[in-house]
Amino acid sequence: MPAQEIKGEEDELIDPIADMPGFDDTETRIAILGHPIHAMSVSFPIALTFCTLAADLLYWWTGDPFWARAAVWAIGAAFLLGMFAGLSGTAELLLVSGIRARAAAWTHFIIAVTLLALLGTNWGYRLPAYETAVLPYGLLLSILCVLVVGFTGWHGGKLVFDYRLGISKGN
Ligand code: HEM
Repeated sequence: MPAQEIKGEEDELIDPIADMPGFDDTETRIAILGHPIHAMSVSFPIALTFCTLAADLLYWWTGDPFWARAAVWAIGAAFLLGMFAGLSGTAELLLVSGIRARAAAWTHFIIAVTLLALLGTNWGYRLPAYETAVLPYGLLLSILCVLVVGFTGWHGGKLVFDYRLGISKGN
């Protein structure tokens, strides 16, 4: 097919999603003085998930019950603070039309909910007997949680840096 004809067809292609009213409205709403609460709160569950794996490894290495106790507290806090971060992210997703319209934001939601389920499982599994829970399943769950939290955080970063979602456009 001649190049001109192909070009003509491309010109007629209209993305129906990009045509939706409010598609360009991507500015954060769940924020304190313009600072998005979701972006501020995600660092806590991310860091605590890594701390849980570190505590599990130290328990495996030293056998000191202190590390098993540290791990159950770290994963509990990771889960609860992750739920808080998830609530702020969900509010942003539902309230901001330009975020709601983008498939990538929903992909992030699905990855994040999977992560929250894993964090909750890792915590709940340890609660009845936190010391015997570490080896091997607690440790294996912590490794999985670290992999999924890394993926969730990386994908959340894509939403901000590639799609420019949840940013303030300034005055
Ligand atoms: C469960 C529902 C969640 C939804 C609907 C959600 C939604 C979003 C949205 C819309 C953004 C773009 C920035 C903004 O609007 O604030 C974002 C960014 C981000 N999200 Fe989530 N999120 C969820 C949970 C999580 C969780 C559990 C984590 C990690 C523990 C996470 C990590 C991130 C990160 C690291 C960013 C980039 C922040 C930045 O670089 O400024 N999200 N998320």
